[in-house]
Amino acid sequence: MKFDFSNVFHPNIENGLTEEEINDQANRVQDIVETIKQNNPGFLSLPFTRVYIDRVLDLKTWIQSFESVVVLGIGGSALGNQALQTALNPLHYNALSKEIRKTPKIFILDNVDPDFISSVLDQIDPKTTLFNVISKSGTTAEAMANYLVARGIIEGYGLDPKKHFLFTTDPEKGILKKLAEEEGIKTLDIPPSIGGRFSVLTPVGLLSALASGIDIIDLYNGAKEMHKRVTNPNIWENPAAFNALVHYLYYQKGYNISVMMSYSNKLYLLADWYRQLWAESLGKKYNLKGEIVNVGQTPIKALGTTDQHSQVQLYNEGPYDKVITFIQLENFERNIKIPNIHCDLPELSYLGGKNLSALLNTELAGTEYALTENNRPNLKVIFPQINPFNVGQFIFAYEFQTAVMGNLLEINPYDQPGVELGKKVTYALMGRKGYEDFSIEVENKLKNKKQVTM
Ligand code: PA5
Repeated sequence: MKFDFSNVFHPNIENGLTEEEINDQANRVQDIVETIKQNNPGFLSLPFTRVYIDRVLDLKTWIQSFESVVVLGIGGSALGNQALQTALNPLHYNALSKEIRKTPKIFILDNVDPDFISSVLDQIDPKTTLFNVISKSGTTAEAMANYLVARGIIEGYGLDPKKHFLFTTDPEKGILKKLAEEEGIKTLDIPPSIGGRFSVLTPVGLLSALASGIDIIDLYNGAKEMHKRVTNPNIWENPAAFNALVHYLYYQKGYNISVMMSYSNKLYLLADWYRQLWAESLGKKYNLKGEIVNVGQTPIKALGTTDQHSQVQLYNEGPYDKVITFIQLENFERNIKIPNIHCDLPELSYLGGKNLSALLNTELAGTEYALTENNRPNLKVIFPQINPFNVGQFIFAYEFQTAVMGNLLEINPYDQPGVELGKKVTYALMGRKGYEDFSIEVENKLKNKKQVTM
């Protein structure tokens, strides 16, 4: 893997960063890296901890005996799963025949849209389905509602819940743990010290990955390899700390947006995973001293070349408020040669005989060049190929980068108090016990509407 940062610096970018700006902060960042190492947040030691991965590996035969594995979870309990599935399995994996696929179909239900849920339920046979309910807290309304829907189906078929459910949750707390103990349902532990968006390499992401045949040991090996680099005290040799500092320095100059633009459909959902990691970890009202700071950089995901025809006009000519990270793939698993047809037509003949991957990466080079000419800071993460090792490296680097950025912003990157109010309103309006007074307050406020016909 390579990390190319040429285009955040002056003179490539007018008013770009200087080496002095990086060096001025080098000691501060070095201290931050050291502090993170000492505080040892759960995600950091995870790749060196065997217990969680071993427990998942123990279940391999059982989970692979199903026709379908359905994940019921949301946010950090779903996005990592989706990113791993999309990156490391063939696109449209579920549509492959059983003979080619060999392992179960994987569905991830991370919403409560009844059209969406129904469309998945239409595709599974409950008798051969495992539902993996993932919720660290065991309180999230969406995951719990989908669990009840699935439970209703399993009971409706007269099937034994023990044989069709697995709960991935906190090892001690929450309703899922309690139910599992009462009913003998298998559980996988989410380490208490690891929050949802940092949990993809825990059983949260590992179970569905293993179910579909992904080499989860190699994911860990990649994370371990990256651990060496992200804990390097030299900022110029530490991609995560360096990238955090680049984003921080630009943020200080008003660059409030971080775009991650993948030039690979398979790597695109890593940008989706990153979007949550960066947004929920860093978007904070209070700093560590309790002062109101309202910080955070808005992460945006984009897909090349598709979004060249949607977003890139804005990136090139709109406000100077974006740091753009490209994800490039050098070697695609498959390729397609464009046929030499219409050789006499210059509008088409230049394409004939070239590979689609060459066109894709040339378009990336074109976008990169144009953005740089327009003085738009941009970076590039280069995957030589997609495999569990490289994906493990990427995930670990960005988790560490987020931790460093949280420290630079002097906020707590591991909590998410801003999500809580919306959750409480849902409980109140859905009639959850204990929220009666709050529901009256909410309903009164909601009455006050101004609407027009549209
Ligand atoms: O990153 C987070 O902490 C959140 O996105 C959670 O993952 C999400 O809210 C789901 O929470 P839970 O796993 O408790 O159901």
